[in-house]
Amino acid sequence: MDLYEYEAKQLFGDHDVPLAERQLATTPEQAALSAARLGGRVVVKAQVKTGGRGKAGGVQVADDPDDARAEADRILGMDIKGHTVHRVLIEEASDIAEEYYVSFLLDRANRTFLSICSAEGGVEIEEVAEKRPEAVVRTPVDALNGLDRETALAICEKAGLPQQVHPPTATVLQRLWEVAREEDATLVEVNPLVRTADNRILALDGKVTLDDNALDRHPERTPFHDDGDSASLEARAKEKGLNYVKLDGQVGIIGNGAGLVMSTLDVVSYAGEAHGGVQPANFLDIGGGASADVMADGLEIILGDGDVKSVFVNVFGGITACDAVAEGIVQALEMLAARGDDVSKPLVVRLDGNSAERGRRILTEAGHPAVRQAPTMDGAAAQAAELAAK
Ligand SMILES: Nc1ncnc2c1ncn2[C@@H]1O[C@H](COP(=O)(O)OP(=O)(O)O)[C@@H](O)[C@H]1O
Ligand SMILES: [Mg+2]
Repeated sequence: MDLYEYEAKQLFGDHDVPLAERQLATTPEQAALSAARLGGRVVVKAQVKTGGRGKAGGVQVADDPDDARAEADRILGMDIKGHTVHRVLIEEASDIAEEYYVSFLLDRANRTFLSICSAEGGVEIEEVAEKRPEAVVRTPVDALNGLDRETALAICEKAGLPQQVHPPTATVLQRLWEVAREEDATLVEVNPLVRTADNRILALDGKVTLDDNALDRHPERTPFHDDGDSASLEARAKEKGLNYVKLDGQVGIIGNGAGLVMSTLDVVSYAGEAHGGVQPANFLDIGGGASADVMADGLEIILGDGDVKSVFVNVFGGITACDAVAEGIVQALEMLAARGDDVSKPLVVRLDGNSAERGRRILTEAGHPAVRQAPTMDGAAAQAAELAAK
């Protein structure tokens, strides 16, 4: 789960990472009040879970409360890379002397964490890494041994930060490492970490990704999950005990069992090549028991994803036989239609295994206009990809 900047900064604050004073606002009026409370110049910052807000015009300096009101009025409701701005962070404007980049991320391939540091922050780190790879310092951080003072200082040295900021920056690095470890984050990124004109080190931006598999260990962080937009389908799926993962393509995928779902993704990607690069839009594993309720929940979530153009339901009947799954699909479509949900997106169903014959007959007899069947996984994937490309 990705956090908003204001949430990331809340975690930073809990771990004594130095920050500028700030307040969250949801209306221009609140923005003006916050600016008045903070006093002096402020920065009005769009809260969306995507980078490059500055470039998109979502980070603006305001000289006084009236100005902050006007900027907030302009930024609230703005669309930044498909994310609507519902909140702005009003933050004391810092007098920036230098901008650095620091992050900790889980390096799965090497089974360790990686710290990345550069004296050239404020811009996208990928750009720096491409143009001047020597300016980006990568240092493995062992998950158990962590980041000691000596290593933190060595990182500052290697990154070429000015000598006088090594001690405070090393402290910030160690605290950010603490955020990663104690909050179970897979990414903690600060870009920019700044040196102010009066030589303070402040985290002016914050990006944190928490490990969803560790959320149980942090019940105090549940407010982070109550999110109006991007995460809501994930949150709904989780509530219903379903495994739903959002991807970038156009074909929604429902299957029973992780292995089958994974291979379905591959087959759809492959079939999609013949249709201009159609890809899976998401996937959902309904697990062993595919009752009507579970199927309705699954279809509701998959169809609720606006990117989905077609759905591929791939089921191998085992303990739950295909006839039960077919009944589930028929009832689910009825339930959703009765509730007023749109069930017109094409659904390609492939049933195999236990009672497949009977399952197929149930679907044929129900004759739902959105449902079509395919006998093989490859054939179904090809159909779903073709329908999605239309
Ligand atoms: N409190 C602040 N005071 C002064 N400048 C700021 C402040 N917050 C952000 N900025 C400036 O705006 C730029 C973009 O803000 P940032 O939070 O990094 O958003 P994004 O990375 O999404 O563009 C920063 O690199 C910094 O130069
Ligand atoms: Mg930034």
